[in-house]
Amino acid sequence: MSEPGPGLWPPAPMRTERLLLRGSEARDRAAFVELFASPEVGAYTGGPRPREELERVVPEVPGRRPGCFVVDLDGAMIGMVTLDRRDTDTRLHARPDAVVAELGYLFLPEAWGRGYAAEACAAVLDRFAGAFPREPVVLRTQTANTRAMRVAAKLGFSEVERYEEYGAEQWLGVRAPAVPSG
Ligand SMILES: CC(C)(COP(=O)(O)OP(=O)(O)OC[C@H]1O[C@@H](n2cnc3c(N)ncnc32)[C@H](O)[C@@H]1OP(=O)(O)O)[C@@H](O)C(=O)NCCC(=O)NCCS
Repeated sequence: MSEPGPGLWPPAPMRTERLLLRGSEARDRAAFVELFASPEVGAYTGGPRPREELERVVPEVPGRRPGCFVVDLDGAMIGMVTLDRRDTDTRLHARPDAVVAELGYLFLPEAWGRGYAAEACAAVLDRFAGAFPREPVVLRTQTANTRAMRVAAKLGFSEVERYEEYGAEQWLGVRAPAVPSG
């Protein structure tokens, strides 16, 4: 994992119109367990994990890692947005030493359908663009995950390619840097 960059770790809290994005706290643990145990949330992300196992293994304060934002609505966690900068993805044909940031988003089902995911991701992408204006961001999801595909389109990701993995069609999208290189 590379340096997350200014404002990304520890995550300086930021407000959007309706939400607060912040680092995780011990009081978020139940929501993390709920996210990973939910069959709806896990439908296209590797499946839900057994709640008893999660209760055992999830740390007292989960999500304390670079690029992990808790999304808070009126004082309670409703989801998370992640931005991981890691070694390049060969699918992007980038330089072998390059680092690529990847966006992820997981929300509790009761918070779906209100535009919260798009609102939270847009704020994280803005902050990222401020810290790394010349870097693209990538995003991966199954093509069958229509909600996630709609969020990706709204955020300005465009298709790089589709490929088969884990027995399903995957979508790799990229969002161009704030400042084009070259
Ligand atoms: C992917 C996921 C985050 C999408 O959540 P979502 O709530 O559908 O996405 P958005 O925040 O963009 O909300 C869009 C919906 O809110 C509606 N909406 C309602 N009020 C709105 C408002 N004020 N502003 C914007 N949209 C609003 C939109 O019309 C849209 O509804 P629709 O889906 O019926 O067309 C969610 O389904 C999820 O957590 N899935 C499980 C995890 C996952 O698969 N993650 C992807 C892997 S990267």
